[in-house]
Amino acid sequence: MIAIDVGYSHTKAVSLDQRVLIPSVVAPHRELPLSELSRNGSGHVVEIRKLNGDTKNGDTKKYFVGELALREGQGATFTLDREKHRHPNHDILVLAAARLLEAREGATLVVGLPVAYYRLQKEELRKQLEALHAKVSVDDGPLARVSFGKVVVYPQGAGALLTASDLPENSLICLVDVGYKTTDYVLAKVAGGMVGPEGGGSVEYGVFQMYEAVAAAFGSATGAPLDMNVAAAVAAKGRVTFRGRELDLTAAVKAARVNTARAIADRVLAALGQKGDFVEKFYLAGGGAVALPELTEMFPVAEVLPDPQWANAEGFLRVVTGTLKSA
Ligand SMILES: Nc1ncnc2c1ncn2[C@@H]1O[C@H](COP(=O)(O)OP(=O)(O)OP(=O)(O)O)[C@@H](O)[C@H]1O
Ligand SMILES: [Mg+2]
Repeated sequence: MIAIDVGYSHTKAVSLDQRVLIPSVVAPHRELPLSELSRNGSGHVVEIRKLNGDTKNGDTKKYFVGELALREGQGATFTLDREKHRHPNHDILVLAAARLLEAREGATLVVGLPVAYYRLQKEELRKQLEALHAKVSVDDGPLARVSFGKVVVYPQGAGALLTASDLPENSLICLVDVGYKTTDYVLAKVAGGMVGPEGGGSVEYGVFQMYEAVAAAFGSATGAPLDMNVAAAVAAKGRVTFRGRELDLTAAVKAARVNTARAIADRVLAALGQKGDFVEKFYLAGGGAVALPELTEMFPVAEVLPDPQWANAEGFLRVVTGTLKSA
């Protein structure tokens, strides 16, 4: 059994003994000189032969996935549209991740959906993934069949909550999963060692807005635009060399982090309304909990989950391995 969290920025996939992290970027394959392929050791060449009824056998497609696709430039990411699972990249990432995890044919798969779309789209996503059937090869390895015997769709933040330990007894808690594009929040009641969901939702705000602010600061300092991937690197370092000149954007990056964290916390607290006042503890997950450390100060009592970027995928896996207190 495996669990896959297909995010707007990264696909996180886990089995009981392996983890795979792939930037959620897909580009058409083109022949590259061997030297170029081996020089850039990361990223994957993925070959997919769909075995669905309406596709003829032998209809094989090849892609660059992850870092390799990133280097191919623009146009290969998820557009920031809402129904990510309807984007062709979605199934390619799922098949690549499952193959990299060496999932056996007919494996059980757990995936997530943003809380806001969960009710409306979970059946559609489950059917889509149960119908997926392909032969897949990664990095010129052998073609192997990938299909899923059972697909479980779980609300995104609720997965992460299953990795929290020491939940305060008889209390209301709130999990906030801060992603690249979306922030999901899930309210839950803890009673008698059980966790019962009490509602939740999504706000369309995330780490992306921090990168945008960094790109804008870079733009006003240089007059040049900044690609989002480079903005992420600048946000991490605070400094960048541009046309031979060292540019110190530390203050702008800090401001971008504080403003974005503030905007995310405000939106989540506003959405929670009065219920938010009764939350005993906020648990932070998602890469945003690392990229925006200021978030912990902006919720009344907050704790970052261990390994926050992986919390959803790890939690999804617990849904089917039974090591959980409640579903
Ligand atoms: N250790 C880290 N340091 C800095 N930034 C990080 C770290 N880990 C993750 N991030 C960044 O946090 C952001 C959110 O990552 P995450 O994987 O949670 O997003 P996602 O699940 O792809 O997005 P969404 O939930 O919106 O679909 C990304 O921009 C990622 O690069
Ligand atoms: Mg996410």
